[in-house]
Amino acid sequence: MLSGKNILIGITGGIAAYKICELIRMFKRQGANVRVVCTPNALNFVTKLTLRNLSQNEVGVEEFDIPDFKPEHISYADEAEIMIIAPATANTISKIASGICDNLLTSIACAFKKPVIIAPAMNCNMWENPVIQENLQKLAARGYKILEPENGFLACGYEGKGRLCSLEKIYDEAVAILTTKTKGKKYVITAGGTIEDIDPVRYISNYSSGKMGIALADEAYHCGNDVTLITTVDVTKPYKIIKVKSAIEMQEAVNGEFETADFIIMAAAVADYRVKNKSDQKIKKTNDDTLTLELVKNPDILKGLCERKKEEMLKRVQHDRIIVGFCAESENLLTNAKEKIQKKGCDYLIANDISRKDIGFSSDYNEVTIFDKNGGMIKLERASKSEIARGILKVINE
Ligand code: C5P
Repeated sequence: MLSGKNILIGITGGIAAYKICELIRMFKRQGANVRVVCTPNALNFVTKLTLRNLSQNEVGVEEFDIPDFKPEHISYADEAEIMIIAPATANTISKIASGICDNLLTSIACAFKKPVIIAPAMNCNMWENPVIQENLQKLAARGYKILEPENGFLACGYEGKGRLCSLEKIYDEAVAILTTKTKGKKYVITAGGTIEDIDPVRYISNYSSGKMGIALADEAYHCGNDVTLITTVDVTKPYKIIKVKSAIEMQEAVNGEFETADFIIMAAAVADYRVKNKSDQKIKKTNDDTLTLELVKNPDILKGLCERKKEEMLKRVQHDRIIVGFCAESENLLTNAKEKIQKKGCDYLIANDISRKDIGFSSDYNEVTIFDKNGGMIKLERASKSEIARGILKVINE
């Protein structure tokens, strides 16, 4: 399954280093070319000879051991399609987050522009240290895929969070990235709830956190795509972000990206109405007990995009764009979703049930049903939003 794929594994100095021997074998069994780099501390836990025999490649440790015209950290970074740092110690995580390149592994990480998976493992008190958490957040925001450690009995004798996640999890994550068919496409994804001003200090909005749209953008990016996220939520990401506020602004931004997009995913919760005459000044309280705001309909961005795609098809424009909508329903989810996909004219509609408290708005979990324009239906059972995002990307790429 992985024949012809180049995987770079970085091992740092934690006791879980011994487990990586098995991970190397898992990749080798599938035909991958595996290259290993270690920090000098990692060699206290596992030998160079073991790693060399298992990977069937020389193991890199020293930075200035240059057999080639290119410095090793650059040729290692050029060769691999993915870098996996496991176990990643608090020390190495913090160095990478700060751009420190004081050994071969950290130098490669700094030069590596393709997907990087980081699987931390450490003592639970180190894991909980806010400095380490901040550094991890910094890396996650920059597009590194962090596979959180698990709870359990730790080698240091403590019970808590810090054990390296399962090897299967690291393996599955890498395989998903390496074998994805979605590579090299342009994704335009919207996220968050639009904000419709009433006056300079008040607005109408909704509870959308933007997490589902951001998870989709992250997954698409990790799989090697060109991503533009049009969002109402502030985020720092390694891909292009267009920050918008209202539905009108979002429409303008999406329309501007339409031409070059291969996939447009409208995960944002766009307000159906906005205030008709938004006040330039703060609206004053009066003696009346009621205040009436007149609302006007916002444009249906998704429907507009689907109409534009239809026009293109009539003109035989050779660009097969896939347009995906979301629908959040609090009742009759399936009936409403089936009706909506027809009404909007999109290729796929992802339906989620917002009446459930354990999924959906603000939650890190979701459960969705994907409808396609031909009447097909696939349910993705409750899972983290990043797993759901991966499932959605897989379906819309089939
Ligand atoms: O009609 P409804 O709001 O349920 O449709 C939801 C889908 O349509 C979402 O994909 C949302 O992003 C999109 N939408 C839109 N413009 C609107 C309202 C919703 O593009 N004005």
